[in-house]
Amino acid sequence: RPASPRLSVIGTGYLGATHAACMAELGFEVLGVDVDPAKIERLARGEVPFHEPGLPELLRTHVESGRLRFTTDVEEAARWADVHFIGVGTPQQAGSSAADLTYVDAAVTSLAQAIDRDALIVGKSTVPVGTARRLTGLVAEVRAAAGLPGDVELAWNPEFLREGFAVQDTLTPDRLVIGTSGPRAEPILRRVYARQLAAETPWVSTDLETAELVKVAANAFLATKISFINAFSEITETVGGDIRTLADAIGHDARIGRRFLNAGVGFGGGCLPKDIRALQARVSELGLDRTMRFLAEVDDINLRRRERVVDLAVEMLSTAHGHEAAAAGPYGGTTTGSGEEVLNGARIAVLGVTFKPDSDDVRDSPALDVAARLYSAGADVRVYDPEGSANAAARFPRLDYVGSLDEAVEGAELTLLLTEWQEFREMDPEAVGGKVADRLLIDGRNVLDTAAWEAAGWAVTGLGHRFDPASVTARR
Ligand code: UDX
Repeated sequence: RPASPRLSVIGTGYLGATHAACMAELGFEVLGVDVDPAKIERLARGEVPFHEPGLPELLRTHVESGRLRFTTDVEEAARWADVHFIGVGTPQQAGSSAADLTYVDAAVTSLAQAIDRDALIVGKSTVPVGTARRLTGLVAEVRAAAGLPGDVELAWNPEFLREGFAVQDTLTPDRLVIGTSGPRAEPILRRVYARQLAAETPWVSTDLETAELVKVAANAFLATKISFINAFSEITETVGGDIRTLADAIGHDARIGRRFLNAGVGFGGGCLPKDIRALQARVSELGLDRTMRFLAEVDDINLRRRERVVDLAVEMLSTAHGHEAAAAGPYGGTTTGSGEEVLNGARIAVLGVTFKPDSDDVRDSPALDVAARLYSAGADVRVYDPEGSANAAARFPRLDYVGSLDEAVEGAELTLLLTEWQEFREMDPEAVGGKVADRLLIDGRNVLDTAAWEAAGWAVTGLGHRFDPASVTARR
């Protein structure tokens, strides 16, 4: 017998599809709901519309067992389920840094209008603080106006899953955060997450505002950590020093920790960039203009990394061609004048286009941004990514997307590693060296063994390392 309560998941994107399949794995009957009929059709056939390790197997198993079903009919979900998880997107609004709450509002309103029994609505989407409180009022109003029977309570249970580890992060999370507005949510959610509780997953019971803030605080902290080390990259690129050693050394302090201190082209994806922007917008609305101002710097440092890669490409190519280095200095230097000249027509191999490995997601991807900038400066850019080319081509069709590493590097005058897929970490410097026109490499993620590549006759510059023109002259 399936476990009770019955669950619905509204919104079957990244978060929702993963949550639905994982809840079925925990033994519940689950109904996934989305307004997009094409998406629902694919999921109902057991197909995941994006790349996520482990998810296709889970989805297929539970679609076949009948425990996991999909529909476009929110009223069916309203009649059937006891608990409704909201997993719709909250993207950045066009022309603003605030979050677009249209989908969350629509999902909650359509449920509130159709539920005719006792039920729980549980928000999982990342929202600006105050949204859940406002939605509680909205639900009460809508239901009073329609005179519907049943008690509907709202809770907030933010989701911290990482792409590439979505299943693992959902089934064995670091913590569960439950913000409630009434007495019924907590006992019901303790039943839903009984397996995690048995495994002693930390359980944080709190109010709606804290629950919303935990999510944005976590993402703001992670983004700040990355930009912190990338700001030090600007120093080591200027004065010398080794950014990896610096990160290792401060990371040994348990209060700091080594994770999320990998210097490189910076953060992207569907969460960190938009979440730090939405947080700034929200606190400004609250009249706290200065409070999150540092996040504007975090964002700027992050975006400057992309310019730095382009400037470094100019410096390396100029040095190789015997031109004067184009940029006036690493910072403040722009790719104009002789910079554009050196990029114009240069054959450049870009390895990786997704915002991180083990994902096909190119939203706000630093790698795609850099590739596009090089293209715009006239370079002949060949891109290879194990999973991301189709999504990248949909956004930026003019790049030359190829199907293998070998094709990408064939005849390249400069090679850029921008997303640290395992395939790139394992590249053989000799084999790749045999394909390229020139052994010039930028390691945009600091994952290669520079000494081994240099021993194979390459000039390698990692982000966070001072560019040494002598390395270019010394290459084979
Ligand atoms: C993030 C949060 O980690 C997750 O908890 C939240 O639920 C959603 O947002 P995700 O977007 O999947 O998850 O990616 P994450 O693994 O956090 O990486 C974000 C970006 O930071 C990537 O572009 C990655 O390449 C970059 N990054 C990460 C670094 O540049 N350096 C690091 O040390 C770590």
